[in-house]
Amino acid sequence: MRRMVAETRLHPADLILPAFVREGVTEPVPIEAMPGVVQHTRDTLRRAAVEALEAGVSGIMLFGVPEEAKKDALGTAGTDPDGILQVALRDVRAEVGDELIVMSDLCLDEYTDHGHCGVLADDGRVDNDATLERYAEMAQVQADAGAHVVGPSGMMDGQVGVVRDALDTIGKEDVSVLAYTAKYSSAFYGPFREAVGSSLKGDRKTYQQDPANLRESMRELALDLEEGADMVMVKPAGPYLDVLAKVAEAVDVPVAAYQISGEYAMVEAAAQRGWIDRDKAIMETLTGIRRAGAKMILTYWATEAARALRSAR
Ligand code: PBG
Repeated sequence: MRRMVAETRLHPADLILPAFVREGVTEPVPIEAMPGVVQHTRDTLRRAAVEALEAGVSGIMLFGVPEEAKKDALGTAGTDPDGILQVALRDVRAEVGDELIVMSDLCLDEYTDHGHCGVLADDGRVDNDATLERYAEMAQVQADAGAHVVGPSGMMDGQVGVVRDALDTIGKEDVSVLAYTAKYSSAFYGPFREAVGSSLKGDRKTYQQDPANLRESMRELALDLEEGADMVMVKPAGPYLDVLAKVAEAVDVPVAAYQISGEYAMVEAAAQRGWIDRDKAIMETLTGIRRAGAKMILTYWATEAARALRSAR
């Protein structure tokens, strides 16, 4: 009876797998703060993409981890056609074609030696407009490398419009923009910093949102839509379900939510100690995010959850 009347149903196609690929490694490198998640080699990333596809997951979101020596103030590895993310995009597209939607994180923090999402002005603050120029170039190299969707995640003002224009200029009108619309300055990104080997000192409070604010997200939403966002995202997911619900009610574009590294780590850590039932907790968090209004969920459990959903009655 419960099954018949359930108001929310999860489907493997709702899930998108975020994945890390590290330059110059021959074995996958485990991420300590995210048990079960690794920095992939080019080869294991290809395999992970195929596994996700076979499990019914609809997309993969790629993050590049460059060699330490290739990081610089401008994050030039992020716009190098032979940079790790671009190489990985080509690898994965060659493997999955159009069967799996291939997405790329469009942000500089993985590539800058200071770890910020943008380039810095002389006074050490992130320079919004100079960063937009870098994002435009990133969008173009990522699209050229085969991204179906780019995800500008740096929270610079005007980033969606600049990325849309840059794509259109090179004839990539059919590459979609997944806007990180409501992205909060969150402690739950902690494990991600290890995942991408980020050297960030300080915080992202000058460009990411204050957890105290809800109305601000609605303003970000209006701007992103006006600038041409095809899909919008709320991030993190779990602590911001009210934001997600409000965004989902307000728009008619697809809405995504990102269940981030710290959300993953909390469940895994508690489960390791035997304090909660891991599998039930995973499904409960995903169902909650879906119920709040996300059509798509980015989750590190995507492949596993998709398999579980397929074998569930
Ligand atoms: C920025 C970016 C971050 C995450 C995704 N894209 C880090 C940040 O904004 O600090 C976090 C994802 C996660 O924590 O799982 N490139």
